[in-house]
Amino acid sequence: MNLIFNELTQLTDPHYELLLDADPSKKLVDDYTHRGFTYEVTLDKKLVGTIVLLPTRPETLEIVNIAVEPNFQKQGIGQQMLDFAINYAKKNYYRTLEIGTGSTSIGQLYLYQKVGFRISSIDTDFFIHHYSEEIVENGLVLRDMIRLRLNL
Ligand code: ACO
Ligand code: ACO
Repeated sequence: MNLIFNELTQLTDPHYELLLDADPSKKLVDDYTHRGFTYEVTLDKKLVGTIVLLPTRPETLEIVNIAVEPNFQKQGIGQQMLDFAINYAKKNYYRTLEIGTGSTSIGQLYLYQKVGFRISSIDTDFFIHHYSEEIVENGLVLRDMIRLRLNL
């Protein structure tokens, strides 16, 4: 699949729709898209995904948002986007790539471990403290964030 990655300087509504699918907090999305690098992913000129990379600590890059258009999910695009982030981090001399996801995001946890991420810690009650609305996923109330790390 020939995916094209373009860095964005301006976000449009379709970009926001994707970003908010991965993270329902508009405030957090606006904050990290201003500080980090946001890429759109297109396939045959059609927008199919977005990914946001944020330098956090020295030599550390975090994937703070990754989303694939619902009609294009489960076709390997997410995995290719993670490979893009890994290559980007290596090329730019980062030593560690991080990602965090909800403890209820079973499929995402599978995917991140499949590409090599290892669980590093748990941010207990992260989603209770940082989100005003309750998030329910896979029939469970989301409370805790699982943090994962890939040493490059
Ligand atoms: N449930 C079950 N399995 C999944 C899921 C899921 N939600 N997502 C991916 N997988 C599995 C696939 O079945 C596939 O398995 P296989 O290799 O055994 O066939 C493997 O993971 C690879 O999947 P892809 O097709 O590459 O992933 P996809 O293109 O669907 O993208 C993504 C994954 C980005 C998580 C997508 O499902 C999505 O946009 N979800 C909604 C937004 C979201 O949850 N984003 C992540 C939040 S955390 C963050 O942003 C830091
Ligand atoms: N994968 C996916 N979903 C599962 C699994 C699994 N391995 N096990 C349970 N579930 C889900 C069920 O789908 C069900 O979901 P639902 O409520 O939405 O329908 C829910 O969990 C409850 O399932 P039960 O039918 O009550 O669980 P089951 O009788 O299958 O027993 C158990 C679960 C004990 C884990 C069983 O699968 C098993 O013996 N597995 C092999 C041994 C094992 O892994 N034991 C646990 C190791 S950790 C430990 O021992 C402390």
